[in-house]
Amino acid sequence: MTQHSDAFNAWLPEKQRLFHSQYSTRVAALLPSFESQLHDATLYVIEKPGKSIRPMLAFATAQALGLNENQALPIAMALESIHIYSLTHDDLPAMDDDDLRRGRPTCHKVYDDATAILVGDGLQALAFELIAESELDAASKVKAMLTLSRAAGIKGMVGGQMLDIMASSPEAAAPTIESLDRLHRLKTGALIEASVTMVATLAVDEKSDTFRALQKFAQLIGLAFQIQDDILDITGETATLGKPAGSDNDNDKLTYPALIGLESSKARLYSLYDEALSTIQSLNINSALLEELAKLIVWRSF
Ligand code: IPE
Ligand code: IPE
Ligand code: MG
Ligand code: MG
Ligand code: MG
Repeated sequence: MTQHSDAFNAWLPEKQRLFHSQYSTRVAALLPSFESQLHDATLYVIEKPGKSIRPMLAFATAQALGLNENQALPIAMALESIHIYSLTHDDLPAMDDDDLRRGRPTCHKVYDDATAILVGDGLQALAFELIAESELDAASKVKAMLTLSRAAGIKGMVGGQMLDIMASSPEAAAPTIESLDRLHRLKTGALIEASVTMVATLAVDEKSDTFRALQKFAQLIGLAFQIQDDILDITGETATLGKPAGSDNDNDKLTYPALIGLESSKARLYSLYDEALSTIQSLNINSALLEELAKLIVWRSF
């Protein structure tokens, strides 16, 4: 079940390496040349790559639909910028108050809270700059920016982060699976959905069956991604995760295992995976990489 194809095992590390190199070069080129703490702190948060799941989903979607991967590159870079901004803010004392990210001290630990806030703000703006300055045609740029702004903002990630914080307050209403799903779909699912749909709109009509199926697939794996993140917070180790294990428990977070237990959370994770695969397997596209990424999301150990 956890075995990946040889083709995927060869593709993934090479694509991650190439993407990270293209991304860090591009961001460094777009930063102002004057030296400032903001400049250094921005380079600090982008220096250490993560799994680059969202960029990989963008490239896999391009491949599935026969697009040139260069068309997906500015979208992948914009997604990673929003993602790193969200991590930098998520770790702040006012949010999850975590000291470790990607195996290194968090931005506010190395610099300070104000700098970490500004690094996130800067990366958010940069995401839209990366799309606007790209070689995509004008209509594609607007579509991509509209989808990304919705996924990142109040209707998406930011809205989900607010629900996440409200869920830990003493006045919070008793959680249900529905309220937790909504929280997870927004704080994490929205950006993962956008990783697929921003690229898919370059190739297929948004009303087409192919688009709708890819969107559903991305929603399912987006929810699965956060369930596995919640599970790993309990079953994983800090050294492997590169972020503090047990943080959710320490912060009294509303998570899948907290609400329904570890075993039921795993059952839900696997059923989301099965449903995600069956959603795209009948499509007339080259979905091999997307299927492998779904597998990685569900069976990853960090
Ligand atoms: C962590 O995301 C934050 C969540 C949305 C759960 P990732 O697990 O994708 O983090 P990196 O990019 O690999 O560090
Ligand atoms: C964060 O969820 C989702 C974001 C929008 C950053 P978590 O708070 O569970 O992410 P980690 O575990 O700190 O990476
Ligand atoms: Mg959080
Ligand atoms: Mg966190
Ligand atoms: Mg987490």
